[in-house]
Amino acid sequence: MTRYEQIQNTLAATPKVWLITGVAGFIGSNLLETLLKLGQHVIGLDNFATGYQHNLDEVRSLVSTEQWSGFHFIQGDICNLEDCRRAMHHPSARTGPVDHVLHQAALGSVPRSIADPITSNATNVTGFLNMLVAARDAEVKSFTYAASSATYGDHPALPKVEENIGKPLSPYAVTKYVNELYAEVFARTYGFKTIGLRYFNVFGKRQDPNGAYAAVIPKWTAAMINGEDVFIYGDGETSRDFCFIDNTVQINLLAATAPDEAKNEVYNVALGDRTSLNTLFDALKAALIDCGVTYAKTPIYRDFRTGDVRHSQADISKAQTKLGYAPIQHIDDGIDQAMPWYVQSLR
Ligand SMILES: NC(=O)c1ccc[n+]([C@@H]2O[C@H](COP(=O)([O-])OP(=O)(O)OC[C@H]3O[C@@H](n4cnc5c(N)ncnc54)[C@H](O)[C@@H]3O)[C@@H](O)[C@H]2O)c1
Repeated sequence: MTRYEQIQNTLAATPKVWLITGVAGFIGSNLLETLLKLGQHVIGLDNFATGYQHNLDEVRSLVSTEQWSGFHFIQGDICNLEDCRRAMHHPSARTGPVDHVLHQAALGSVPRSIADPITSNATNVTGFLNMLVAARDAEVKSFTYAASSATYGDHPALPKVEENIGKPLSPYAVTKYVNELYAEVFARTYGFKTIGLRYFNVFGKRQDPNGAYAAVIPKWTAAMINGEDVFIYGDGETSRDFCFIDNTVQINLLAATAPDEAKNEVYNVALGDRTSLNTLFDALKAALIDCGVTYAKTPIYRDFRTGDVRHSQADISKAQTKLGYAPIQHIDDGIDQAMPWYVQSLR
């Protein structure tokens, strides 16, 4: 039995209280679905800045009535310390205070942070600090937060190893690096230990395909389904380590239940592989054919985008060794699982 299977069994037998910030977003709503299916008590905090009620409604449709009754939603803002403190307690008399925090709320996207660094900083830095303070004061058992591969910045080495980072290339990267610095200082000064998960490019169902700041997989998928143009920034040989959402959910549960010696650390969350944008374009096109969608256009190439790193690939051995992380789905498996959802949602 893998460590992940063991943890799922233990949690199902002895449910815990979880707080997911950013619960109405892509990663948050997938965490919610998994935890509710395991019979956990979950508090969700979100201000709908980039998340949606329809993500929560979809989770509701995928779990039983009893499982859904374990969920308590708070519409609130992590920039407000009182909202963060309020979220540390489940109103149900059956449960105690929060055991595990999965902090996902942030404003993602490098271009968004370049267009509006002040708002990104407020949410990603002040909001993060508020969550740390509220969680520390509530004496939660674990605090796991969404860090980012953007922290590698201009460091040229491939694959990326946790301890070798370069200079940040965008305001977003600064905010995510500051999270790591605060996390370390909270361990040092208050003995409050956390785990940072440096997500690489996560993808899967419920990732928002709309808006100027959509991620590449949902954006291209939507364009292909609607017969619109697909734009590639640069020559298409830019590469990313795409990580299917189920692998990301797995590592969040592993991190939350990790032993103390695995804490006060950051971990790469990816597949340990690299896929170019040109290859990704072909893979999406092929997977959509299996869903009855034929895309006849060729991609349109544009200039490279400011702030984008050229190549990204993770060394995931630290997460494998210290957390028992074992990504199951390869990028192709993930694409095959995600495409029917997009076709159903967008057609
Ligand atoms: N998706 C990826 O590939 C990726 C890669 C690296 C890091 N991350 C990080 O993972 C986390 C989740 O990303 P996602 O892809 O699910 O994005 P998302 O935009 O779908 O989800 C973020 C959620 O946070 C909420 N939120 C934003 N500001 C808030 C605030 N002030 N108060 C309360 N809630 C707020 C949004 O409404 C949204 O529901 C983020 O921290 C992001 O920076 C994601």
